[in-house]
Amino acid sequence: MCGIVGYIGPREATEVVVGGLQRLEYRGYDSAGIAIFAPGAGLQLRRSVGKLSNLVARLRETPASGNIGMGHTRWATHGGVTEVNAHPHRDTSGEIVVIQNGIVENYLELKGRLLEQGVQFHSQTDTEVIAHMVGLAYHQTGSLEAAVRQTMGQLRGGNAVVAFCVREPGRLVAARLGNAGGVAIGVGEGEMFIASDMPAILDYTRDIIFLEDRELAVVTADGVQITTLAGAAVQRAPISVPWDPVAAAKGDYKHFMQKEIFEQPRALTDILRGRIDVERGEVYLDDLTLDDAALRKVERIYAVACGTAWHAGLVAKFVIEQLARVRVEVDYASEFRYRNPVLGKDALLLAISQSGETVDTLAAMEEARTQGVPAVAIVNAIGSQAARVADGGPLYLHAGPEIGVASTKAFTSMLVAAYLLGLRLAAARGTLTQAQVREHLQHLVELPGKVAEVLESSAQQCEQLAERFHHATNALYLGRQINYPIALEGALKLKEISYIHAEGYPAGEMKHGPVALIDDTLPVVCIAPQDGIYEKMLSNVEQVKARGGQVIAIATVGDTVLPTKADHTIFIPATSPLLTPVLTVVPLQLFAYHVALRRGADVDQPRNLAKSVTVE
Ligand code: AGP
Repeated sequence: MCGIVGYIGPREATEVVVGGLQRLEYRGYDSAGIAIFAPGAGLQLRRSVGKLSNLVARLRETPASGNIGMGHTRWATHGGVTEVNAHPHRDTSGEIVVIQNGIVENYLELKGRLLEQGVQFHSQTDTEVIAHMVGLAYHQTGSLEAAVRQTMGQLRGGNAVVAFCVREPGRLVAARLGNAGGVAIGVGEGEMFIASDMPAILDYTRDIIFLEDRELAVVTADGVQITTLAGAAVQRAPISVPWDPVAAAKGDYKHFMQKEIFEQPRALTDILRGRIDVERGEVYLDDLTLDDAALRKVERIYAVACGTAWHAGLVAKFVIEQLARVRVEVDYASEFRYRNPVLGKDALLLAISQSGETVDTLAAMEEARTQGVPAVAIVNAIGSQAARVADGGPLYLHAGPEIGVASTKAFTSMLVAAYLLGLRLAAARGTLTQAQVREHLQHLVELPGKVAEVLESSAQQCEQLAERFHHATNALYLGRQINYPIALEGALKLKEISYIHAEGYPAGEMKHGPVALIDDTLPVVCIAPQDGIYEKMLSNVEQVKARGGQVIAIATVGDTVLPTKADHTIFIPATSPLLTPVLTVVPLQLFAYHVALRRGADVDQPRNLAKSVTVE
């Protein structure tokens, strides 16, 4: 979950590296460091604890300058948040520096061997083990490439590494092991870039080469040579990434999360573009490798994901089972990968991931592969690992960069992606007629406008409710059926950015325990659109009110009953029952955002979190 940046070329490396780290700070921000080399000044190392701004201040005091360098923002895994543990780390000679993303699972064994050889350690990190191993191997082989190759061959666990040696000042060596999180190589004119994620590179080039598992790259200003760790040459052409770097900037919003909440109408327009024909009642998912015959054979789908993406999987279950009548099981990827699952034949794995780099989700995909089960990945990051290993093809969200750690536009895009997949499956399997698909598509094309309507009509009200409830210590979110996952998602949004304990619950479960929590200090969000179980939700609202709870209801425009029972009512426009989650979640995103603001929390970079969980 760390941010890694490397550069070699004619520009001032410090500027390129720091700018890249700023674009990656959402990946982890416990500490930051930079190593820049220039023939005269030699190797200049600067490191600081806390936000990247502290490193920038350090560089103002003691500048570093040169045309080659690397930098790192850290999400601590081994060793506390201290300057000594900040990357880059050096070998004993001080001539080799290394930055790393991931976890060396056998670092204690390797460190023990190094200590026996008399190596002195300064930090508690697994990264310093790598630095010393590369240093010792370098003095045996006289080659940085050979030293990194030899070292990576001894590591266990997912790792991405970049190394530099003062004796070979014209190159950086990068390597990838497992699913630690990407190594993207940006191809420029007479300059090259390395980063753990594309936003760090897009200001300079959109031609990107991604390292695969067990590959090593020697990067010079003129280009890159890629080999497998075993030494076999790899020819890989760059992918031209369509993301616009400007889109990755905040624009005139205060936070990335705010920007991304309000980008949802555009994101939901973009995911549909080129994929539906309402007149003909057809859905085109051209990136999928599964044709009608393959889709007809699918008897069971396993949706696997983490966090918010897992909530999307729960909604996908409803949508796909209703539209295509295919059984869908939903698993936390972190559970799926270790439960030795019996997938059976005619199964399909559906991985859902914004980053496409979540290590548990990638491991779940690997488990499916070993059982011969094809995988489709609903994914946002273009060229990410999940997109590349999905043999059933990626279903890209095209939502653009999502920088805020709390996922918003990617989530609603995931819901639409699941809907598109459900319609595609239904068409292939004949569970819906073309006329029925046409009707569903009509609801779909109206969705971006309805999201814009909710944003317009509820933004101020959510701000006022945040003012009213931001001192709460607990919160309860209730929903039923397809909106139960939205109760979970609303609770997750609140807890991950405002640090208020919040729970999502199936409303029907209230009487089996949670009703004991109700008192006049507890805000209870009740998601109650006018659908098939509306009456049941009404009675849940009454149960909460009968015990003095404060009810914030999400209701359908035109509902005149619910507002008479709830303390506060936020309205959403009517839509197809299978699409209500895309609308009901929006006020919950806004509410969480404004509560967090009022509590002075860091909305875009909440404590202890990172945007992409690439370590277990
Ligand atoms: C969402 O608000 C969280 N930041 C987190 O739960 C996230 O959804 C989860 O880590 C999965 O990430 P992914 O979609 O990139 O796989």
